[in-house]
Amino acid sequence: MKLTRALAGAAVLSLCLLLAVQPEAVAAAAAGGKVESTVRTEVVKAIRADPSVGPALIRLVFHDCWVNGCDGSVLLDTTPFNSSAGVEKAAANNIGLRGFDVIDAIKAKLGDSVSCADIVVLAGRDAAAILSRGRITYAVETGRKDGVVSSAAAADATLPESTFHIDQLTDNFARKNFTAEELVALAGAHAVGVSHLSSFRDRINATTRTPIDPRYQAALAGDVEALKGRQNSTDPIEKFNIRDMDAGFRNASGFDAAGVDMAAVGVLDNSFYHANLQNMVLLRSDWELRNGTDPSLSDSLFAFRDNATVWEMEFAAAMAKLSELPAEGTRFEIRKSCRATN
Ligand code: HEM
Ligand SMILES: *[C@@H]1O[C@H](CO)[C@@H](O)[C@H](O)[C@H]1NC(C)=O
Ligand SMILES: *[C@@H]1O[C@H](CO)[C@@H](O)[C@H](O)[C@H]1NC(C)=O
Ligand SMILES: *[C@@H]1O[C@H](CO)[C@@H](O)[C@H](O)[C@H]1NC(C)=O
Ligand SMILES: *[C@@H]1O[C@H](CO)[C@@H](O)[C@H](O)[C@H]1NC(C)=O
Ligand SMILES: *[C@@H]1O[C@H](CO)[C@@H](O)[C@H](O)[C@H]1NC(C)=O
Ligand SMILES: *[C@@H]1O[C@H](CO)[C@@H](O)[C@H](O)[C@H]1NC(C)=O
Ligand SMILES: *[C@@H]1O[C@H](CO)[C@@H](O)[C@H](O)[C@H]1NC(C)=O
Repeated sequence: MKLTRALAGAAVLSLCLLLAVQPEAVAAAAAGGKVESTVRTEVVKAIRADPSVGPALIRLVFHDCWVNGCDGSVLLDTTPFNSSAGVEKAAANNIGLRGFDVIDAIKAKLGDSVSCADIVVLAGRDAAAILSRGRITYAVETGRKDGVVSSAAAADATLPESTFHIDQLTDNFARKNFTAEELVALAGAHAVGVSHLSSFRDRINATTRTPIDPRYQAALAGDVEALKGRQNSTDPIEKFNIRDMDAGFRNASGFDAAGVDMAAVGVLDNSFYHANLQNMVLLRSDWELRNGTDPSLSDSLFAFRDNATVWEMEFAAAMAKLSELPAEGTRFEIRKSCRATN
């Protein structure tokens, strides 16, 4: 609590300063055993070196645990039965998945007694704490085992797609025993990180777009054209959060920043809900949270927008629940390398 207040009271921090200073501050406040402190130290180091890896580590928890439970299967480069083209990493729905080198670095420090599945969960938990400046914390169990199966087809059949409609999203989450409210809470992770154009192209296309603020849409369309050149790619990556776009973009979009801490660039907070309720989010699946008839969807959107603490608590609880999804399968081990079965 002391930590939270000290950080909230801190002067305006640039992204560099913020991420250069705070990982250590959050780490210093964290208790826990040797495994947990080793993971924490490595995650701090990784985010310090490359802040963009923080969102990637949070996403890894979702993409590992959703497919056959938390079993480290998303980390496998190949299996005895499948080439690199057949494993989860190769799934279309896993586009842009990163952070594997950070998991490797942690594994190298921890050795053969800690599973890769545990490392994914602990690293994602620490990344959420760091990116939220210590406001999102939750306990997780350890003792997971690593699976030996990894299937691209299973990942594509199980993970939600960015073009999903609201009924597909709630069905997808219900299959894992997650409520509509938990869906809305977890989607708030899209306050940080990036998306490929191919994941939101439908939003800037006049034929296929779902409700989107027209000024935001125009600014986005212009920005991705510029990014194509800057990144030398026909499928550039764009930041999720309008908060983190430059002032010209925000002005052109007519973004109403009331209630959003505009100095908190790169911070995992409830700004996703401010943006979403203005139709200024990248993905169709994000906008679709507004298109459900279940009142707990819209109640949650407003509740999370209007009270950051409520969202932080719900997000932490849902991440903890996600992290405990039991591994499915019959053969388990503790891998020597997170990228290959023993
Ligand atoms: C509700 C269904 C969801 C859909 C359809 C979805 C879809 C996506 C897509 C398309 C991307 C961008 C991939 C790319 O093009 O590079 C992405 C990124 C991301 N997602 Fe989700 N997601 C969902 C839920 C979640 C959940 C539950 C979490 C929380 C663990 C999460 C955390 C993230 C993060 C942090 C990123 C940014 C990753 C980075 O910067 O590397 N997403 N998601
Ligand atoms: C190999 O990949 C295929 C296709 O993605 C999948 O159906 C199968 O379950 C995978 N097998 C193993 C053992 O991972
Ligand atoms: C579903 O989740 C609720 C809490 O969200 C829990 O009480 C219940 O036991 C879970 N049921 C199953 C089948 O996992
Ligand atoms: C917009 O979407 C429609 C329907 O999928 C497609 O035919 C069209 O080529 C798209 N336009 C652009 C500019 O990508
Ligand atoms: C919103 O959902 C309804 C179904 O409940 C659907 O008919 C409608 O097309 C959706 N709106 C958009 C813009 O997709
Ligand atoms: C841009 O990308 C293309 C195709 O990947 C590559 O051939 C070219 O060398 C790149 N140009 C620059 C300036 O990096
Ligand atoms: C954005 O708008 C604000 C307020 O109207 C103005 O002070 C600022 O100069 C504008 N910035 C840019 C980059 O357009
Ligand atoms: C926000 O929610 C928290 C937790 O329920 C509560 O203690 C606090 O009073 C709420 N803040 C406001 C401004 O409503």
